[in-house]
Amino acid sequence: MTAPAIHVQQLGKQYRLGTAAPLTRTLGEAAHALLRRWVHAAPSRHAPAAREPFWALRDLDLSIAPGEVVGLIGRNGAGKSTLLKILARVVYPTTGRALIRGRVGSLLEVGTGFHPELTGRENIFLNGALLGLRRAEIRARFDEIVAFAELERFLDTPVKRYSSGMYVRLAFAVAAHLEPEILIVDEVLAVGDAAFQRKCLGRMGEVAGHGRTVLFVSHNMTAVRNLCARAVWLDAGRLVRDGEPAAVIQAYLGRHADADARPEMDLRDWPIRRGTGEARLLRARLLDAGGRVCGRFTRLGPLTLELEFESRTRDELNLSAAITTTDDGLKVLQLAHQDSPGFVPGVVFGRRKVRVEVDRLPLQCGTYHWNLCLHTAALDPLDVVQDVLRFTVEDDLARSPRPFRSTREHGLCSLPAVWRYVHAEEPAYAVQ
Ligand SMILES: Nc1ncnc2c1ncn2[C@@H]1O[C@H](COP(=O)(O)OP(=O)(O)OP(=O)(O)O)[C@@H](O)[C@H]1O
Ligand SMILES: [Mg+2]
Repeated sequence: MTAPAIHVQQLGKQYRLGTAAPLTRTLGEAAHALLRRWVHAAPSRHAPAAREPFWALRDLDLSIAPGEVVGLIGRNGAGKSTLLKILARVVYPTTGRALIRGRVGSLLEVGTGFHPELTGRENIFLNGALLGLRRAEIRARFDEIVAFAELERFLDTPVKRYSSGMYVRLAFAVAAHLEPEILIVDEVLAVGDAAFQRKCLGRMGEVAGHGRTVLFVSHNMTAVRNLCARAVWLDAGRLVRDGEPAAVIQAYLGRHADADARPEMDLRDWPIRRGTGEARLLRARLLDAGGRVCGRFTRLGPLTLELEFESRTRDELNLSAAITTTDDGLKVLQLAHQDSPGFVPGVVFGRRKVRVEVDRLPLQCGTYHWNLCLHTAALDPLDVVQDVLRFTVEDDLARSPRPFRSTREHGLCSLPAVWRYVHAEEPAYAVQ
């Protein structure tokens, strides 16, 4: 068996919560100290924590073979960046050890890796030298790096003047082109624009294709699924699950669906809205079949939307609601009052509560939002709010057993249909 490229044993990193009082040296720090005293003198329910220790990473064992492409997933604060920083030797572990075999190229969070006072050009050479490359070797790759980063005009500008997107472009280009044997990338997808993200993913795929080891953190599950042969899920500093990406991602999304749901909202002060305001949405809730507030629904199961609004317009109302995907805001379907036979909203003065009952929710598994709309009958907007009431849809595996999770990769919607064999005595078509 070949020796692992990355081998982590009983790795732990302890930090202290709260902040230490800094030595006051510069004017900025003096202002900071004053601000701190002023803030902390104010009574608050959330008193600053004492400097109690806590574990950002705990008892982690992990072994990654050369050539493996591994996606690291987990909620904010799970310890993903901490692990990468230890592997890149930016921070020391408190316990355990991390062995690395091979030259590491790393793209960590913005702010690490480059010297802020040095220009882009100087930082490329500095990073190359730190990776153990000779000047000629760095020069041979220089043009490729600059072209990938698309920063020709800013090469001689100190990187402290770069925007965060520019910084990440250069950092990724350096990390991915200086021929590291192990590429460690933290959240490159969060900063760059869509075209650059695609380019980075493509480059990571190429690096992986050349048999290099890649470990990357992402909140983009599609990228993890497409790029990785293995996914590792961390939570509260510990390893929760390690294995085939589809299974690990499904378990991860399932676990946190409830925590992220927003099934009940007071919309009176919701800031982003459009319309004359002559009618106004006040509250909205999602309910399960038993009438309880619920943020998690089953595919092809029931869902009820409840809206409360107030109106003082003399126009007849038009009510509608649309469901959009949370990751890219795609409108998947619309519920309009006209599709409910016999329901006429009419002219309303004062408050009303309306329930919209869906028998069989035709959505694939995933997370969704609602757009809620009050219009006049002539379709002039009275009050329209977008991206509210976050909820998730999961498969009911007991009712519809499937070997896979029905996600948007299988289409935007699901429809219940009756499947049956046609008996020999009722031929559907004649065989010649
Ligand atoms: N220098 C530090 N001092 C104190 N606490 C820290 C420090 N660096 C990280 N932490 C804490 O360690 C925990 C893990 O942080 P880490 O940055 O590894 O999370 P993460 O999984 O990368 O999260 P995200 O998805 O938000 O990037 C967090 O609670 C964070 O506040
Ligand atoms: Mg992080």
